[in-house]
Amino acid sequence: LACLLAATFGLSATAQAMTVGFSQIGSESGWRTSETESIKAEAQQRGIELKFSDAQQKQENQIKALRSFIAQGVDAILLAPVVETGWDQVLKEAKDAGIPVVLVDRGVKVKDEGLYLTKVASDFVEEGRLAGSWLAAETSGKCDLVELQGTVGSSAAIDRKTGFAQVVDLFPRMHVLRSQSGDFTRAGGKMVMESFLKAENGGKGLCAVYAHNDDMALGAIQAIKEAGLKPGKDLKVISIDAVPDIFKAMAEGETNATIELSPNLGGPAFDAIDAAKAGKAVPKWIKVQGPLYLPDTAAAEYQRRSQ
Ligand code: AHR
Repeated sequence: LACLLAATFGLSATAQAMTVGFSQIGSESGWRTSETESIKAEAQQRGIELKFSDAQQKQENQIKALRSFIAQGVDAILLAPVVETGWDQVLKEAKDAGIPVVLVDRGVKVKDEGLYLTKVASDFVEEGRLAGSWLAAETSGKCDLVELQGTVGSSAAIDRKTGFAQVVDLFPRMHVLRSQSGDFTRAGGKMVMESFLKAENGGKGLCAVYAHNDDMALGAIQAIKEAGLKPGKDLKVISIDAVPDIFKAMAEGETNATIELSPNLGGPAFDAIDAAKAGKAVPKWIKVQGPLYLPDTAAAEYQRRSQ
């Protein structure tokens, strides 16, 4: 029917109902669940048929999903890549089939950047630098801390670590004593934080924890409390995402700062596909930016975001 209407009314290909495949990583964090919901809602609002695939954190499942989307002849693909490397072959298959791929929220390392249309994502290195700068200012550049990394091999974990380290390296009395992956999950954050606390004399000499996302910070907060310390006071806590639950913890004085990563990436991603199909130029990186939030606005932010 869409084709018939398009032919009858002379509508362009972009105005016809599009079919888009979306390969999502999984649902490891509150942020990712919001991203999935937001992209599904945006597709529905635009009349796009979205074929959704949940990879359960496995790259092999994402590659299978992409191949299935290609076989089904979708008009475009959204890919949230779990890790950075290993995408060249399947992206080439999509390109050979004439299907544009938009990366959402994370990046890839490929030999030829022409294999994907664009990336809609924040600058993770910048987020790491912002977290490091806040902590340096807050502690006058003197802090022994631990770091909870995201999924091993993901651009989010690699770049957030890099940006943070760039700032810490400027301060001779700031040290990352331990750094390990909690896989972006609440349970992972709690488990790794428990082991950090055990290894660091119950956490007594520690000044802070830097978590690559809010869910791991929420897990760490639990572990700190169970160890008899006060998160947000005995140990400062800083993380990234700005999910509703972190604002609740912040309003209760249990965490100190979060950097926002908007989960609403569907709008710019679908706009980029429309632009490409209309023959317009699309930038290689569509950057999203978010501010740092502190306790002064936490209660209001929690109320606003949890409605
Ligand atoms: O790629 C973005 C990161 O992935 C988010 O910060 C995290 O919560 C998610 O799982």
